[in-house]
Amino acid sequence: MQNLSQVLAASATPESLQSVLNITISTCVDISNALKKGSLAGILGMAGNENVQGEEQKKLDVISNDMLKDALLACPAVRAIASEEEDDIVPAHTDGEYLIAFDPLDGSSNIDINAMVGTIFSLYRQTGDNPATEQDFLIQGKEQVAAGYVLYGPSSMLVLTTGKGVNMFTLDPDTHTFLLTRENVQVAQDTQEFAINMSNQRFWADSMQNYVNNLVAGKNGSRNKDFNMRWVAAMVGDVHRILCRGGIFIYPWDNKDPSKPGKLRLMYEANPMAMLLEQAGGKAHTHTQRILDIQPEAIHQRVAVILGAANEVDKCLSY
Ligand code: F6P
Ligand code: MN
Repeated sequence: MQNLSQVLAASATPESLQSVLNITISTCVDISNALKKGSLAGILGMAGNENVQGEEQKKLDVISNDMLKDALLACPAVRAIASEEEDDIVPAHTDGEYLIAFDPLDGSSNIDINAMVGTIFSLYRQTGDNPATEQDFLIQGKEQVAAGYVLYGPSSMLVLTTGKGVNMFTLDPDTHTFLLTRENVQVAQDTQEFAINMSNQRFWADSMQNYVNNLVAGKNGSRNKDFNMRWVAAMVGDVHRILCRGGIFIYPWDNKDPSKPGKLRLMYEANPMAMLLEQAGGKAHTHTQRILDIQPEAIHQRVAVILGAANEVDKCLSY
């Protein structure tokens, strides 16, 4: 079985990009080890702070963020980082070539119940003569040079694209290396499985209510087929299921808080997952446009997300 370094070298990934990916992913191996110790390491529970989006930070959010931040700032190829847990971007090396945005621990409300969480990352190539600013990060998702996540589940898995398809790797706990276990992942065009937080139903737009009502009506409604529903409550887990066995994942626009056009963040949740889905033959849209075409306005910007099986995303958008 090929390991990650062998796969990257064989795919002619530039050495500087390989160095950023290797640092990111080896730090994820350390995060995976920290998660395994759980309560034994005294790392569960709240850190007592709020992040920039007003969410309470868990200790492991902060620990994972610090681990990735320290490792990436020390990597000469990194120009700057942006993180869900950092209010502002953090410049690294002015002559570095890569900008990396990450969600250090997605789905962190799952930590205390020993359920799936993950690290999501998105990389852009960008050079300049001055230290990077937030403005430098405001690049459309279609310019990403690599994107992926590490899922911490029963086994830890890396799912990665460098723009030439999607590969899945499984962490070998004996050697602490990621081994290629599934190549060129493809998502089926049609599906009978959806993922959405139904408790928000009354806040959705009428069109989204109609679409989901028809999924729930199954064979008795206009869709003429029954649908199953799943919700991991960690985007990384729901997207992983879709890459493994298909489906549609939706975190829609709602009118709960008029200042937020959705819950998920563009730069380190929607964009990297959109690149993975498109590379696997699926689609990723907001209710109005392709996610990878959005011109970002701020690093912590939120968007509505509809992603997964191509025909089902089209069906949803047709409402
Ligand atoms: O990062 C935000 C997030 O935790 C996603 O991972 C997940 O899909 C979503 O929020 C869960 O939202 P809710 O709390 O509405 O189930
Ligand atoms: Mn998240």
